[in-house]
Amino acid sequence: MDRHSIVLRAANPTIEEGLAFARYLDEAAEGFFRFMLGRRAAHILATAYAQPDHDLSYQNVTFAERDNVIVGMAAGYTELQHRRSSLRPLKRAAGRRNLRMRIVLVLFAPMMRIIDSIHEDEFYLQAIAVDKELRGHHVGSALADFIEGRARACGSARLSLDVSAGNEEARRFYEGRGMTIESQWPKRLALPGLKFYRMTKAL
Ligand SMILES: CC(C)(COP(=O)(O)OP(=O)(O)OC[C@H]1O[C@@H](n2cnc3c(N)ncnc32)[C@H](O)[C@@H]1OP(=O)(O)O)[C@@H](O)C(=O)NCCC(=O)NCCS
Repeated sequence: MDRHSIVLRAANPTIEEGLAFARYLDEAAEGFFRFMLGRRAAHILATAYAQPDHDLSYQNVTFAERDNVIVGMAAGYTELQHRRSSLRPLKRAAGRRNLRMRIVLVLFAPMMRIIDSIHEDEFYLQAIAVDKELRGHHVGSALADFIEGRARACGSARLSLDVSAGNEEARRFYEGRGMTIESQWPKRLALPGLKFYRMTKAL
């Protein structure tokens, strides 16, 4: 596939695009959002996505399209944007299911603290994902290039992200882009299936 047939564009605050965002986000997060929010996770995320000024907002999202069909997504934000973000839009969208979300957030508090720790000069890549059948055709590279450009335009000096240790495909992709593992969580005790690498790259 020709890389030039891929068009990148900013996201719009519609429920339809929110559902696409939710699908890619959960793919990148290996099902964590579905685990946290339950059966209606996609709808809850899509509702929160349509709100401005928080981590899961459409404002942070870029879609990749081929022939006007969305085939990939990347989302990210600066430390300042993250610091100003709140979970309120997600909690509001979750409604009664808010309780399940609160319990998961308490259980996973140590992991969330790591994910939340973004340095002042960093741009955090929250998620990147490409449709399965199009992987290996440089859609991910186009999205990652765009995110790096956006990070530089925001004045960020570094790009950072968290990737689960089991996701070798993504780790190789990031390594190929010059990212290196800076730390791992948990530091010592490795829980089965629950180990993350923080990867960074100077911009
Ligand atoms: C990670 C991901 C976004 C990469 O997107 P992609 O469109 O397949 O990546 P690209 O085609 O742009 O690949 C770019 C380079 O990475 C390399 N690469 C991609 N997948 C690879 C793999 N499985 N093993 C080794 N190298 C790989 C390619 O060889 C390519 O190198 P090249 O330019 O020398 O050919 C995609 O695999 C994906 O959606 N994964 C599922 C979601 C996910 O895990 N997201 C990350 C969460 S942290």
